[in-house]
Amino acid sequence: MASEAVGAPPAVNKEVDERKPAKQKIDPWNVAGEVDDSGNVKAIDYDRLIEDFGVQPLTQAHLERFEKVTGKPAHRLMRRKLFFSHRDFDKILDYYEQHGQFLLYTGRGPSSGSMHLGHTVPFLFTKEIQELFDVPLVIMMTDDEKFLYTRNKNEGSMKKGAAPDDFLDYAYENIKDIIALGFDPKKTFIYSDYEFMGGHFYRNVSEFESMVTYNQASGAFGFGESTNIGLISFMAKQCVAAFPSSYPELFGLPDYRAPDFDQAGKRRHKALASIPCLIPCAIDQEPYFRVLRDRSERMVDPHPKPALIMSKFLTALQGPGGKMSASDPNSAIFMSDTPNQIKSKINKHAFSGGQQTEEEHRRLGGNPDVDVAFTYLSYFLEDDKELEDLAKQYRAGEILTGEMKAKCVGELQNFVAAFKERRDSVTPEVMREFMRPRKLEFVGNPNPIKPKAAEGASGSNGSAVPSGAAGEGAGGKDGRGTKGERKAAKLAEKKAEKEAEKLALRQKAEEAKPEV
Ligand code: TRP
Repeated sequence: MASEAVGAPPAVNKEVDERKPAKQKIDPWNVAGEVDDSGNVKAIDYDRLIEDFGVQPLTQAHLERFEKVTGKPAHRLMRRKLFFSHRDFDKILDYYEQHGQFLLYTGRGPSSGSMHLGHTVPFLFTKEIQELFDVPLVIMMTDDEKFLYTRNKNEGSMKKGAAPDDFLDYAYENIKDIIALGFDPKKTFIYSDYEFMGGHFYRNVSEFESMVTYNQASGAFGFGESTNIGLISFMAKQCVAAFPSSYPELFGLPDYRAPDFDQAGKRRHKALASIPCLIPCAIDQEPYFRVLRDRSERMVDPHPKPALIMSKFLTALQGPGGKMSASDPNSAIFMSDTPNQIKSKINKHAFSGGQQTEEEHRRLGGNPDVDVAFTYLSYFLEDDKELEDLAKQYRAGEILTGEMKAKCVGELQNFVAAFKERRDSVTPEVMREFMRPRKLEFVGNPNPIKPKAAEGASGSNGSAVPSGAAGEGAGGKDGRGTKGERKAAKLAEKKAEKEAEKLALRQKAEEAKPEV
């Protein structure tokens, strides 16, 4: 399962369990390294993935551009190449520089009630870049996807603990974990698909579904004729979640769904379609967003192609090449682990890049590149120099494996302890606040080069919507549309009526034809 793979222990599929030679397999539901002739699982080959998926590597030039636009150092996870590839990342930076805002979108498939350390790292990245850009963020919990996937995997049979209700419960638990990472409720909307799907979102879903044929879906995801149709069509939901027009409420515009049915919210809010989106995700999600990017501009209200910034998978305790299992509690640090569990897991299970004996280690030195304790430290230590020194001293044999592990244990214990404290304060009320569709508050780039085009984005007029969205384009302040728009809408309505009439006539004529 992909979401497991994003976390500490990539799930290893059947092929690998059977230890037969096999190519690396990466898709939203499987992540497995190549298996060689002797049955060893190799580390994932990311250069090949970049080529296979046709995505771009994140380069030094991108990091510099990021620094220029945000005025802050590039995020450590970009500097350390955990986030290593992208699509149109430069374009989103340009847009932000000029117009001052975009929508950040990420998500999680809630496949169990507790999250690993590994699952939290991409969210930390998202949180920290949200702070740098000061933009709205939506987090989608795909409880529906996990249900459909699980049932499909079980060949249609219904297993205990795997009903829609169960995945919704997992979503709630995961949402609390995500909130405990420190997101700002003013700028962040988190939702479960089972709870939120409807309104403008669902209209986008429907429109998107109409643009994907079965052949295209199975081409992108490898579906077969026995795949349940829910899983086949699910992708439309994960795709249109990148469209700001799926969430008018977040931009202070009305949706129309019950209970407070708002006539004004029936219309689509055209101006929202122009806000671009950046999606931080693990690279296994790329097939979704390839389909999305191919169709965004073909929506009735065209949306720009969303930009992507993609990460590698996090290393399991056993290291990049070892046999890893999602169901093995010893392969991952859970956010619910006690300080002692963290210590003993790292000490007993973390793959070491050190030598067998102290004497050898002092003489030959260790290899930080495959050392799991060092790798985890690289996710958390902000200071490049400190990290570089650790690596150097490890290579020189000056630092022993035990010392590297002790440092890692200390960092992780602190991180998990702080997390737990915040998790305890996430009451049901706090969770509900994040899940309530409401106008988000954000400033974005305070000095956009073309402020005219981003009018309103500053929030100074109380609106979170860019050019025209709160005014003309979105149908006027009252949401009813400008005169011209109302006129155009009336005309369009008339035209549609006429067409429907024609169609009905044609059908009648068909029916009247004698059967052949
Ligand atoms: N499908 C993802 C998973 O299984 C969840 C998800 C939904 C997601 N939308 C996303 C992940 C956007 C990254 C970005 O984990």
